[in-house]
Amino acid sequence: MPSKRPQWRSLLLGCFTAKNQSLETPKLISNKRSSSRIFLSDLSDYSSLSIMSDLSNSLVGSNLHIFTHQELKEITHNFSKSNFLGEGGFGKVYKGFIDDNLRPKLKPRIVAVKALNLDGKQGHREWLAEVIFLGQLKHKHLVNLIGYCCEDENRLLVYEYMERGNLEEKLFKGYLATLPWLTRIKIAIGAAKGLAFLHEEEIPVIYRDVKASNILLDADYNAKLSDFGLAIDGPEKNQTHVTTRVMGTHGYAAPEYIMSGHLTTMSDVYSFGVVLLELLTGKKSVDKKRPSREQDLVEWARPLLKDYHKLERIMDPRLEDQYSTEGARKFAALTYQCLSHNAKSRPTMRTVVKTLEHLKEFKDIPIGHFVYVVPNDDVVVPNEDSLKVNREKGAENDHGENNNKDGVIVKTKAAEKGEKQEKGYQRLRKRRGNRRRVKPLRSRAVYSDTALYKTLGTSLYSPKQAPILA
Ligand SMILES: Nc1ncnc2c1ncn2[C@@H]1O[C@H](COP(=O)(O)OP(=O)(O)O)[C@@H](O)[C@H]1O
Ligand SMILES: [Mg+2]
Repeated sequence: MPSKRPQWRSLLLGCFTAKNQSLETPKLISNKRSSSRIFLSDLSDYSSLSIMSDLSNSLVGSNLHIFTHQELKEITHNFSKSNFLGEGGFGKVYKGFIDDNLRPKLKPRIVAVKALNLDGKQGHREWLAEVIFLGQLKHKHLVNLIGYCCEDENRLLVYEYMERGNLEEKLFKGYLATLPWLTRIKIAIGAAKGLAFLHEEEIPVIYRDVKASNILLDADYNAKLSDFGLAIDGPEKNQTHVTTRVMGTHGYAAPEYIMSGHLTTMSDVYSFGVVLLELLTGKKSVDKKRPSREQDLVEWARPLLKDYHKLERIMDPRLEDQYSTEGARKFAALTYQCLSHNAKSRPTMRTVVKTLEHLKEFKDIPIGHFVYVVPNDDVVVPNEDSLKVNREKGAENDHGENNNKDGVIVKTKAAEKGEKQEKGYQRLRKRRGNRRRVKPLRSRAVYSDTALYKTLGTSLYSPKQAPILA
């Protein structure tokens, strides 16, 4: 729990100084809880709010900045297409550049600005949920909310910018440079830590929308949860669950939640299991283009997770066998547990974190014949010096992958040092002889994110899976 809390009560009371007090002002339900956190459920009638006025007096002591619509227009170049980052149910997200002149206390930085689609299905409730949860809960694996805008019917949110976008794009659309095994584990650990933090709050927070497109990645592939629009306060101590309208995303929502609206932190664990399955298989949770029995990923793949021999059938072929056999088995077993139909048999997120942390230790990962260096920026043809530097740096960075931050592509034979190791791996591969041979994809060439975006333009983005409606 963060030690420094903004003055939320004053924020909210100020926030709800609506034009027509008798109709618009929500009531703060008496605070029965011991926690100092302000809860979404403390506000009755928030959904009926449509008009809010000046919030500026409310933010004394808060770290959140209140932006005007005009300011956000300026920093995003009028919400220009070239600044477009992504879109979900709430609305479009744009890159914005805050410079020295915007606010004295605000350091120059790149931000992401999410604007409510006024014709969409989401609205004030989702915006308020993000402000309340992300304004109060600060953690390394939750995206940082910098501020917001609430002017007339406009609702916007300003976040730290996450350089590598969302996991969905990286996993399913990065077909030229796939995510290596250890990066997948790193991402899973980050997202799991974010969820564990939420679940371990005094009154747990149920995130309710765990999915690959809501997991964002920074330049070093640190994962952070974004999008708290559907988050909800969990059951209090004497209750076992919250009953709510079923919200979430097809293919990720837990079966008991879909059937009965019974929501617990274990519903998030199930959805996290779906993300683990996507990381393992490189396949989306639902895809109508697949053969009919494979369209629902969980239905098709879950039974195969238990059988080590069948596991290879569902492993992401883009990994090209470059993963630890033992690590993959343990990963699959954890995924199976998370996807249990019996919510009580699922592990807690704390156990998930511990299990995943352990998987980093399995290093029996065969390496390919080429060293890949995934650059951060534009593709640069390396000169001999840069090749040398990269060889010296070795094939692995701190999480054991062939990435570096120099923005240089290296396509070279395995470093001499690695050759001995490679022989060992060849032996290992022989032992794995019964593994399905995977035809190498054209992934020998590596492109930077920027290059990929340039090549594909905004077509990288496709609409998110439809939310489940009540
Ligand atoms: N902070 C950010 N940095 C970079 N990209 C972001 C950021 N926030 C959102 N995005 C992009 O916008 C998409 C939609 O954002 P999200 O918060 O999930 O919105 P919604 O509430 O509409 O689902 C994300 O999947 C991601 O691609
Ligand atoms: Mg989203």
